[in-house]
Amino acid sequence: MTSIRILVGSVYGGALLTARAIKEALEHEGHRVTVLENPELDDITSNNDPLLVCTSTTGQGELPANLLPFYLALREQLPQQPGRPFGIIVLGDSSYGDTFCGAGDLMEEALYETAARKAGNTLRIDALETMEPESEALPWVRSWLDEI
Ligand SMILES: Cc1cc2nc3c(=O)[nH]c(=O)nc-3n(C[C@H](O)[C@H](O)[C@H](O)COP(=O)(O)O)c2cc1C
Repeated sequence: MTSIRILVGSVYGGALLTARAIKEALEHEGHRVTVLENPELDDITSNNDPLLVCTSTTGQGELPANLLPFYLALREQLPQQPGRPFGIIVLGDSSYGDTFCGAGDLMEEALYETAARKAGNTLRIDALETMEPESEALPWVRSWLDEI
């Protein structure tokens, strides 16, 4: 049994639905999953659970408004989390070109600065390719669990 925390960033709800689908599937398998829709730094500093970022990209490669305060606090305070595993699922749209899935890169850089350890490769879900992000996220998350 693993206990994980999902940090959600979502504008239109796609990333949130994906996070909820992950929670439902993993809890079925006996894991404990906390979905944080408006995460605060305290939500991660009060425990050692592996972190899963599940965010979409908005603006020009930017983070959704519900995840931005967490990101800014993380960058400012840099609470050190040596070796803490994290993974990144990021939703985007490849028609945005250079800023494709940029929100995932921002979160990755910030978490690296806390000395956390990335597990697995970032999963980039392209809205041009799929209407059902959870169908890509679920198999990915199962192999991610093997790496944390
Ligand atoms: C105003 C706006 C700006 C966007 N900017 C980007 C972007 O810079 N890069 C990217 O990859 N996707 C961008 N997208 C695409 C979204 O990330 C994508 O549609 C995603 O699936 C939305 O997920 P959500 O429902 O969780 O917000 C943008 C979408 C909108 C509507």
